[in-house]
Amino acid sequence: MGRLITLDEFIIKRQKDFPYASGELTALLRDIGLAAKLINREVNRAGLVNIIGLADTQNVSGDEVQKLDLYANERMIDFLGNSGECCGIASEELESFVSLPDIESKQAKYVVVIDPLDGSSNIDVNVSVGTIFGIYRRISPTGTPVTLEDFLQPGNKLVAAGYVTYGTSTILVYTTGNGVNGFTLDPSVGEFFLSHRNIRIPNKAKYYSVNQGYYLKFDLPMRRYIDHCNALNLKLRYIGTMVSDIHRILFQGGVFLYPNTTDYPSGKLRLLYECNPMAFIVEQCGGKATTSTGERILDIPVHALHQRSSIVCGSPFMVDEIKSFLELYQEEA
Ligand code: AHG
Ligand code: MN
Ligand code: MN
Repeated sequence: MGRLITLDEFIIKRQKDFPYASGELTALLRDIGLAAKLINREVNRAGLVNIIGLADTQNVSGDEVQKLDLYANERMIDFLGNSGECCGIASEELESFVSLPDIESKQAKYVVVIDPLDGSSNIDVNVSVGTIFGIYRRISPTGTPVTLEDFLQPGNKLVAAGYVTYGTSTILVYTTGNGVNGFTLDPSVGEFFLSHRNIRIPNKAKYYSVNQGYYLKFDLPMRRYIDHCNALNLKLRYIGTMVSDIHRILFQGGVFLYPNTTDYPSGKLRLLYECNPMAFIVEQCGGKATTSTGERILDIPVHALHQRSSIVCGSPFMVDEIKSFLELYQEEA
């Protein structure tokens, strides 16, 4: 085996694959990797330093905010603000976007959307959590403050997306539209090393991932699809952290579902910083990602920062199969 390749080395080598290769995106991805290391450190010692538990506040989506949500949000903003390559950030934890000033006369071209800590209700019980990010080129002219329109771009305009899973090991997975690669953090040296090259999702598998407790709140086609999974004795795996549930599916195959429910008629997950980045990654691995009514996630118009969407994603055979259930049972619903 040759020498291990670090995340930084890999990003620099791949810079030429990127259509606007200029080193700016490279610097941004490196900043995100650095923030992830700090978040990882805090997640790992969360039980020791009084940062588990609620922060006694709710975010704009009405979710209870954990102290680690706020810590992760602040670290991401600090690091993205540092290099001067990012001109604005939209986050699950912020009602509006943040506009970052130009640094050292650099005119930043990129905006970043983040779910700083995904699955935060799992922190207190030592179950894996994640970070999701998506990177867009701004639409407004450089050198001016960012605008809402810079963020309200459909997922098909993403130039890069990724996630970090803080699990039994910490893994950063990203794509710039030329396949997907994963890097595992070696905590003894504090570096991410290339560990999962060119991830490809299996066409079908024996796993499905959904909060089946909401079965009675799903539309008829989804209920029928879940009945089908049960009839086939598929294995149900649901962590309650989207990043971790989809991470499993990228390697082992299967389908992740968060359909619309009677409580959340448009779905619960957020389009901009949860569904779109994860859908880009799933597609880049050879998978598919649609809403629970069959539209491609990446083509959905984005009208608001915290817009919700349903999602069905994973192995292509299984996503197509769900589409056939939609067609079959839609009229009856
Ligand atoms: P977040 O912690 O960023 O608010 O996201 C939680 C999300 C997602 O990770 C997970 O798939 C889903 O909420 C779980 O929701 P349910 O508890 O309704 O199943
Ligand atoms: Mn989330
Ligand atoms: Mn979150």
